[in-house]
Order: sequence, then structure tokens, then C-alpha cells
Amino acid sequence: MSRAIPSGPGQAANAQARLKAPAIDKMEAKLSKASRALNASPIQEISHLAQRCGAINLAEGFPDFPAPPQVKHAAVAAIAADLNQYRHVQGICDLLAVKMKQNHVLDFDPLTDFVICCGQSEAFAATILATIDQGDEVLIFDPAYETYESCIILAGGIPLELRISQVYVPLDPPYWTLNVDKFMRSFTGRTKAVVLNRSLNEEKIGCIKETNYNSYSPHNPTGKVFSKEELEVIAAACCQMDCLAITDEVYEYITFDTHKHLSIASLPMMKERTIITSSLSKTFSVTGWRIGWACAPTAIASAIRNIHIKITDSAPAPFQEAALAALQSPPEYFSSLKADYVARRDFLIKMLSEVGFQVHNKPQGSVFIFAELPKTCLLCDVSELSPATFPFIDFVKELIEKAGVAAVPGRGFFHGDCNDLTQQSRYVRFAFCKSNDTLSAADQKMRSCVGK
Ligand SMILES: Cc1ncc(COP(=O)(O)O)c(C=O)c1O
Repeated sequence: MSRAIPSGPGQAANAQARLKAPAIDKMEAKLSKASRALNASPIQEISHLAQRCGAINLAEGFPDFPAPPQVKHAAVAAIAADLNQYRHVQGICDLLAVKMKQNHVLDFDPLTDFVICCGQSEAFAATILATIDQGDEVLIFDPAYETYESCIILAGGIPLELRISQVYVPLDPPYWTLNVDKFMRSFTGRTKAVVLNRSLNEEKIGCIKETNYNSYSPHNPTGKVFSKEELEVIAAACCQMDCLAITDEVYEYITFDTHKHLSIASLPMMKERTIITSSLSKTFSVTGWRIGWACAPTAIASAIRNIHIKITDSAPAPFQEAALAALQSPPEYFSSLKADYVARRDFLIKMLSEVGFQVHNKPQGSVFIFAELPKTCLLCDVSELSPATFPFIDFVKELIEKAGVAAVPGRGFFHGDCNDLTQQSRYVRFAFCKSNDTLSAADQKMRSCVGK
């Protein structure tokens, strides 16, 4: 049937009205269930508020200092050489395979076992899509980095949160220790994977040192590490329950003091059931370049690669070239990265402690401090805030408005229903991946706000 062509101005207006965009609520009805299940990111929300108020941003975990010059030069050279098209730089996989051997004594085939992705975020999402079916259960430790749950929901899986704080010592949560009973009871016949982004604690690992197992990838938001016993429990449970371990190792080179990163894939029987995801983002201060990877048993890597190709085709070409330079950085680069971060961590811990926060866990890795507000906090008396009115947002908003410093409400890292909102709302995450100037300015603002 042919459409009538409007002949006069009145008719044209009517036709336009008929073609008008449908009402917003009708469009909302078109949204998928999965997209509706995702909450807005509190980190983004706070960052926008910080921007509007001109506050110093200690909320987001991106470095505000320059990337290493040799890595930037490699990116510039790649653009000058017109490496502008879809690209797979096999050299990255070759270098990663060498590093797996050197750092973890693990043999991976560079031709089949690595997938170059757009950051750890895409590597993780593609891993979940490659392995999780609707109804599968995935164990996540709580608190956790916010994107894990979202990816699992998008894949139709069910994230099961292990609220360590509630289980272990409910009135004294700062150590975030794994409760083995609760962990073991969380497995069901449908458990497909455990997501790991925590570390192995070297203080408790006597025998592990001898076997060269040092520490497992640091945790966002707490900066904590696993004890040897905890990690072994997780590995044993994965083997016993025939589950995958999906790891996020973006802080593999940002471990402090005596801690050295270890992947759970290095533990006996774990290589064949572990998918490692990581990236250049944090190690080389290039979170916007979007270069990451997944490393997995061949069949799983192949599935991840298929998904990656269907979704994004390839990671940015010039930055893949720069990754070659980055991954060939000399050992001094990695040691000075750690030393700089230790200094930044200690500076921020000192300031936070002196203005009234409690830092129970000195981060052993990562770029975050998960600080607790004391009842007598000089900045805000949280006990007066009602959980029903989202005190975690209120407190952080107040911090932005009064002190001019942005941080992330700790509540944003806890998932699902929680029985003790008030306690979880007492945590605030501060990022210390910031220049000395930024940290000094934050120091001055926070101190002058509380008169210290
Ligand atoms: C634990 C953790 N994993 C992954 C990411 C994101 O990594 P990428 O930039 O490689 O996607 C972040 C960023 O803050 C993080 O803290």
C-alpha cells in the first residue's frame, strides 16, 4: 500500500505529529530485562558530581599522571605509520606467554591461548558470555568491583554474593576474611565459576614462599590479599566442584612491600580451569587506551576470541603496537611503579587517619584505600544518617561539597540485599593513583575542612 503524500501545511503538520517519537515510557518498555536489571554506577555518578563542583577526584581509579614516555612514543609512531585498520598484534600474545612462564612458571601457547581485548572489562565480559548460561551460578566475593555482577546479569547468570563482612565478624568487618563454611555452602549443582580479584597474604604463607608462591592479585576496593589457606580452599573447591576460576589480575604489578603477585592458575590442577583477565590500564597508566587480554585453556580462549571478534573485532590498532613497547619495559620500570605507589599510599593513609578515618587494612596492592568512618568522624556523623535515605551517597556528597574532594561510597561495592546497610555505608573508597600535586591539594582541602 502506498503512503498518501501530505499536500498542504496543515496536513504536513499532522503527518509530522503522527511520525513523532513515541512517548518515553513506551521506549522504556522496549528495554531488555537485562538492561533494566543494571543499576547506574555510583562511581560515574560521583565523578560527574565532582566535575560539576570542581572537586578533586579521588573517586575513579584512573591515574592523572603521564604514561611512560617510551610507550607513548610507540603509540605516536604507530599512528604516524598509518596502522589504522583492524589489527591483531600477535607479538603481544608472544610477550604475554613469556611473562606467564617467567612470573608463574605456566606454559601457554601464544597462538591459541590468548585473546587481545578492549581492556580487562571486555575480556571479562567476553569470558562470562563464553562460559555462563542462563541459570548458571557464579560466586563473587563481596565487596567486589562493580562490573562483575553486571556482566553476569547480562549473560543471564545468577551472581551469588558472599558477604564476608556479615559472616566472619559481623560487628568488625574491616578484615574481609573468607568464611570457609559459608563459601563451601554457597556451591550448588549449578555453580559454574568463582570470580577472583583478591590476593594471597604473604605474612601467613611460610611454605608457599619456598615454592615461590607469593601473593595473589590485589583486590578493589579493599586492597586486601587472601591468606594461603583461603586461596587453597578456593582452588580445592573449584577442583572438587568442577568449577572455573575467572580472575581479574589488573593490579598484578601493583603489589607493595614484600608482596608479589601470583595467579591462582599456578596452584596445582588450576591452570586447566582458570581464565585470567588483565590489561595495560593500571600498570602503564593508560586506562583510556583499552588494551587488555584473556588467557585461558585453548577451547575457552577460542570461544572468547569468537565473542570478542563479533562484538568489537579488534582492540585499537596503534595502542596494540604500543603494548609491545609497554610489555618489554625493563624490570626497573616495574620496581619504580611499586615504589611510587607505596609513597602515594602512605601519604593518603596518613592524611585520612589524621582527619578522622580509620584505615584498618593498609593496602597490600591495588590503588585504593577502603577507609572507615569512625563514629566520631570529624567530617560527618554517619550515625545520624538514615540508611533509608542512602547515607553512602549523602556522606560522599557532603565530602565533595564541604571538603572539595570526591571519593566513592563503599556501599557501591556491596551487592544484592544486605542486612547491615549502616555498617556497609561507613566505608569510603579513595583512589591514590594520582599525581603528587593532586594528592597534596586533596590533603590541604581535607585538613582545612576539619581544621587540622
Ligand atoms: C579490579 C579492576 N578490574 C578491572 C578494571 C578495569 O580494567 P580495564 O581498564 O582494563 O577495563 C578496574 C578499573 O578500575 C579495576 O579496578
